[in-house]
Amino acid sequence: MAEGSISRRSLLVGGAVTVAAGIAGFFVARDTWAHSTSTIAGANGYGAPAPAASGEVLSALSQVPVGGGIVLAAKGVVLTRVAADWVKGFSSICTHEGCTLASVSGGTINCPCHGSQFSAATGAVVHGPATLPLPVIPVAVRGADVYRD
Ligand code: FES
Repeated sequence: MAEGSISRRSLLVGGAVTVAAGIAGFFVARDTWAHSTSTIAGANGYGAPAPAASGEVLSALSQVPVGGGIVLAAKGVVLTRVAADWVKGFSSICTHEGCTLASVSGGTINCPCHGSQFSAATGAVVHGPATLPLPVIPVAVRGADVYRD
């Protein structure tokens, strides 16, 4: 009889320990997941700050030359203007090793570090060593200014 009681008590204690370990594991896993997703959401993979909120004025439209573009390194954006009414935004961080892109000329966005070039129209790689396109940053022209959309 006493042996059976001990056995049931052991079973209850063992079950309680198992439940407690499961709850602790849940919270550890949840915190790990939250940390990893906030890292992804808060950076572009190269340690650069997260983009500012939408609606931010990025530049006066007149500052973006037709057929060229400008690098707004402090804002993490390259604006290109393929045609008078066609402005596009891309990340200003090179997808090769994270250098800040330096210029827009001849239809490409150019990295000074290892020579990668990206299409000013699409952000696609035109010349490596980069293999991934530039992430698009949605922008919109409203009146005389270009906004982060
Ligand atoms: S970091 Fe841009 S080409 Fe290497």
